[in-house]
Amino acid sequence: MLVLVSFLVLCCFTISNCGFSPSGWNSAHATFYGGIDASGTNGGACGYGNIFSATGYGTDTTALSTALFNNGASCGECYKITCDYRTDPKWCLKGKSVIVTATNFCPPNLSLSPNKGGWCNPPLKHFDMSQPAWEKIAIYRGGIVPVFYQRVPCARQGGVRFTMNGNNYFELVLITNVGGAGSIKSVYIKGSKTGWMAMTRNWGENWQSNEYLNGQSLSFKVTTTDGVTRLFRGVVPANWAFGQTFPTRVQF
Ligand SMILES: *[C@@H]1O[C@H](CO)[C@@H](O)[C@H](O)[C@H]1NC(C)=O
Repeated sequence: MLVLVSFLVLCCFTISNCGFSPSGWNSAHATFYGGIDASGTNGGACGYGNIFSATGYGTDTTALSTALFNNGASCGECYKITCDYRTDPKWCLKGKSVIVTATNFCPPNLSLSPNKGGWCNPPLKHFDMSQPAWEKIAIYRGGIVPVFYQRVPCARQGGVRFTMNGNNYFELVLITNVGGAGSIKSVYIKGSKTGWMAMTRNWGENWQSNEYLNGQSLSFKVTTTDGVTRLFRGVVPANWAFGQTFPTRVQF
């Protein structure tokens, strides 16, 4: 018993993702975009900017249809995706899976039918994956395949990062490299001369405050969508400037 408890405690201190339990399996469809080097997947509706260098999400990423995107609340979540080989043995790779991070929105096009480009129309569940991720589970020429997916914990290297954007009375804080549940439910900010203030989601994982915080060191309280809260005390020093990114040692 003691051994088991010690193992779990050790696990929770050394691995970022032991708190979040995977979901069951659901079905959806998948396509791909962004080119063989995934260069076209940079930017995107989650506001991560350069997803390779700046945020460390790499090339295994996906855009989500309206039904999955949840107005940006799903940004940063991780999904394990496997091709439904039994339904589509022609284009599916058998027994392969890939874990992708949600970094973008796949917009609906209501003038197109679901199998002719309208695959992201509500209420369809659809992953428009980066091409490198897609080619780990399916054959390029297939174009669109049926898949099974499961939401899984996000394993990240290093701590959560905060990027300061905006100007004076408008801070837009981009929060990246979030482990565990991966997606954020709520954020509080505190300047060294203020109390705690709730932030609002502006777009994707950009969180907004309308307080004058120049020249103050900043702390954050972040709660992920599984209800886990972490305190990031003084992670942004008083001499911060807009455009700067601050790594931390804290992870979910
Ligand atoms: C929807 O698809 C049609 C046909 O490809 C295209 O002409 C139109 O611009 C698309 N609409 C949007 C909003 O993307």
